Amino acid sequence: MFGPKRQCVVVVGAQWGDEGKGKIVDVIAERADLVVRYQGGANAGHTVVKGDEEFILHQIPSGILHEGTRCLIGNGVVLDPETMLREMEELAARGVSIDGRFRISDRAHLVLPYHKLLDQASERQQKIGTTGRGIGPAYEDKIGRRGIRVGDLRNIDRACHLVVERTARANRVLAMLEVEERASEAEHVALVERLAPRLLPLTVDAGRTTWDALRAGQRVLLEGAQGALLDVDHGTYPYVTSSNTTAGGAAVGAGIGPTAIDVVLGVVKAYTTRVGNGPLPTEADEARGEQLRTLGAEFGATTGRPRRCGWFDAVVVRYAARVNGLTHLAVTKLDVLDTLAEIPVCTGYRVGGAPSDDVPADADALGCVEPVYEVLEGWQRPTQGARRLADLPPQARAYLDRLQDLAETPIAYVSVGTRRDQIIGM
Ligand code: IMP
Ligand code: MG
Repeated sequence: MFGPKRQCVVVVGAQWGDEGKGKIVDVIAERADLVVRYQGGANAGHTVVKGDEEFILHQIPSGILHEGTRCLIGNGVVLDPETMLREMEELAARGVSIDGRFRISDRAHLVLPYHKLLDQASERQQKIGTTGRGIGPAYEDKIGRRGIRVGDLRNIDRACHLVVERTARANRVLAMLEVEERASEAEHVALVERLAPRLLPLTVDAGRTTWDALRAGQRVLLEGAQGALLDVDHGTYPYVTSSNTTAGGAAVGAGIGPTAIDVVLGVVKAYTTRVGNGPLPTEADEARGEQLRTLGAEFGATTGRPRRCGWFDAVVVRYAARVNGLTHLAVTKLDVLDTLAEIPVCTGYRVGGAPSDDVPADADALGCVEPVYEVLEGWQRPTQGARRLADLPPQARAYLDRLQDLAETPIAYVSVGTRRDQIIGM
């Protein structure tokens, strides 16, 4: 992906998340100097296989598994400090040294236990199917100008005062939502006091760090979380996450200008999945959905929930290509389709009998579109050993060609398994 005029690459999900960004980031990060996460928080679950070992990272960028790569959490992230510290310890325990190569933005907002209580309480009223990690309430506080940022820990007295005030406020909201649980002010003060000495040595001006790396000619990878259809502006609102998952969010959330970005790589599965509620036009019937779920091991990396499964939706991917400005695609989990005799692909929608290529703003309207399918021939041969395009069966190549045409975006990578080497560069 990197090259002479390709110094800054963004990787985004172009469906509903879980496209396999973790693995693609891991592969590209091998040649990156700096990897930056720019939005979301511990709602993400990036599964990366290194040798025989599987790592699931929620908060720390997946690039961390390359010992020569520096990693940064940008200002756009809502940081769950306890998850982050746990992951730091786990990485150390499993022999991945992160000393001196992991930093966090002093502008990132903290996700505190009261955010998780609020998230769970609001789920009882409005069933979005969130991950329960406090993401929505933390972004609400950020936009509402009552968030607590990592850099606020520098003035510990003021931070303690703020957290008492915010905990009391959260408790008033919990009472209003008619739930029993309350957040403890004392526990929050103790947490903030415990966090300050652990977090402060890691803090930097992340935008500055990223800028300095670019100016020094280094290779920078901006690592997205979730997917375009979960973007708070462009996704299936209100069934979305609370951040801008699309490529524009990468500039804001990493603290650089949009002109610094050279490549926008959209990751798609060779089929479609979604976890949580909201419309999914190409959702398969129960038996075929179950088949895809079993073949693809489609269970959430963060919550363990079974993912809803269906067919590749070209309307969604064309839309994602447009709102992200995708320059390339990476297609993952092609091997999951290896045993199927026939593979439906949605080429367009019909709305009230008329053809449509729109992703409507209204989630209910998207729930009512009628997908138009084209059925492609399966290859019914294993592809996990393929390392070059020529190693793939002709039907698999035809399938990829069709996805590329429908998405109107060239495919740069095809992933055929979870291991690092199971990838085809095109
Ligand atoms: P939240 O981000 O926890 O608020 O959840 C909002 C919606 O986004 C729910 O439908 C979640 O299932 C979904 N979501 C959040 N993070 C991820 C992810 O990393 N992968 C897939 N879905 C996600
Ligand atoms: Mg995931």
